[in-house]
Amino acid sequence: MRHAVLLGGKRMRPMLAYAAAHACGADAEATDAPAAAVELVHAYSLVHDDLPAMDDDALRRGQPTVHVAFDEATAILAGDALQTLAFSTLATSPLPSQRVVAMLAELAHASGAAGMCGGQAFDLAATGQAATTTLAVLEHLHALKTGALLRAAVRLGAIAAGADDATRARLDDFANALGLAFQIRDDLLDIEGDSATLGKTAGKDALQDKATFPALIGAEASRARLDALAGQMRAALEGCTGDTAPLSALGRMAIERDA
Ligand code: IPE
Ligand code: IPE
Ligand code: MG
Ligand code: MG
Ligand code: MG
Repeated sequence: MRHAVLLGGKRMRPMLAYAAAHACGADAEATDAPAAAVELVHAYSLVHDDLPAMDDDALRRGQPTVHVAFDEATAILAGDALQTLAFSTLATSPLPSQRVVAMLAELAHASGAAGMCGGQAFDLAATGQAATTTLAVLEHLHALKTGALLRAAVRLGAIAAGADDATRARLDDFANALGLAFQIRDDLLDIEGDSATLGKTAGKDALQDKATFPALIGAEASRARLDALAGQMRAALEGCTGDTAPLSALGRMAIERDA
């Protein structure tokens, strides 16, 4: 579990939770538990994503994957235990219990069949089928496998801060665009990046015939889509009254990152 969580990672989801809470006027401390919780679910999802039964990857965050460093059974159990640790961490939040329950429900929904796990199932079903996968199916797949947890990170920050409905709706628009952009960039980096910078093995998506944006529409159209999503993120944040500079910086990072 320490290997999976403590040896690297960009911490994008915790940063989003803090930035969303900041945009809604909350202090950072109120967001510690949800920020940690969403990163723990993410770390678990990576441990399982790398298993031989899924993407069969040997490198993650510049280290051997958990099943390589230890063994498969340990990786399955470490992932399971990281997931439950996420929810017990969130349950210790000192925020009002109504907000804590709302955050628990949000994270559970985003992690499960209607979110990350469902998206991973669609991803596996589409593997080897890149030529016949439609763009609509791919967008739905990406929205679930990656978008759901990124959106949950933003939502947890907003719930922790007690944001009003209108602000939450704008932040949702921002997060939906960011979630799709983040995975399109991930797809592009798999073909354009190098393993040393990425900290994970480059070039695997094409090898496994994964349904990705560059596989379906090409690299150039994928980059054009990123530009459009950057515009959507800017438009969503324009309607917010709080300080959205940190959120906006994370939006740019999702699109411009090299790792
Ligand atoms: C990788 O996520 C998996 C995807 C959802 C694309 P990140 O790129 O956020 O991985 P870390 O946390 O920085 O290792
Ligand atoms: C993984 O997507 C998404 C989740 C772990 C839920 P990928 O399979 O593209 O992520 P990487 O490229 O291995 O990080
Ligand atoms: Mg995968
Ligand atoms: Mg993978
Ligand atoms: Mg990938």
